[in-house]
Amino acid sequence: MDLQACIFDLDGVIVDTAMYHYLAWKRLAAELGIVLTEEYNERLKGVSRFDSLNLILALKGISLTDEEKNQLAEKKNKWFVDYIHSMTEKNIYPGVQPLISDLKKAGIRTALASSSKNAFTVLRQLGMLHQFDAIVDGNMIINTKPHPEIFTKTAGLLNVPPDKCLVIEDAAAGVEAAKAAGMSCVGIGDSAILHQADLVVSHVSEISLEKLRSIKLTDKT
Ligand code: BG6
Ligand code: MG
Repeated sequence: MDLQACIFDLDGVIVDTAMYHYLAWKRLAAELGIVLTEEYNERLKGVSRFDSLNLILALKGISLTDEEKNQLAEKKNKWFVDYIHSMTEKNIYPGVQPLISDLKKAGIRTALASSSKNAFTVLRQLGMLHQFDAIVDGNMIINTKPHPEIFTKTAGLLNVPPDKCLVIEDAAAGVEAAKAAGMSCVGIGDSAILHQADLVVSHVSEISLEKLRSIKLTDKT
């Protein structure tokens, strides 16, 4: 079973923007009198802006109109966008560029699939816009992770069958989405949280092409 495409998540996989999302949500939560812990924040990873806000409001049973929620989500996004404007290619995690380069040399297609509506802005900041054969962001899908839509759509754009795609994800919702799409998945983070992944590492720099290929063999034979 050949690996034909590798699909990268963005926030928390290519760059440390997962931390910026957390800081911005924590600041908004504090304004609402809510304490957002790192543990609870795991549930927010990979899910849409609106769903993230709903998860925070649920902590205190706060109910708001959609308009009020949009205003809060917009406020958080302004803080997030402020954070990302100082980013450069120096913020790309070590190991990402060598892995992409090895994949390309091996003829394996590369794609980016992020729930974020800021994905193109982040990729531009990092100088990575032209490194992927396909990019799908939060503006191009109806259902965000854990729904498989984003990965199914990405595989469709690449014209690669799902069982020949491998996803790299840091969010439980993302791993769930990848598996629901019928793909292999490497999780980056805590194996207790990312237990559905085929392999979990603590950092992207631990992933090599050989490791990815062995997952496919282990998984499909
Ligand atoms: C995901 C992040 O990549 O994008 C989530 O993991 C975030 O934390 C989601 O909520 C939506 O991002 P944005 O930039 O559209 O608010
Ligand atoms: Mg992520």
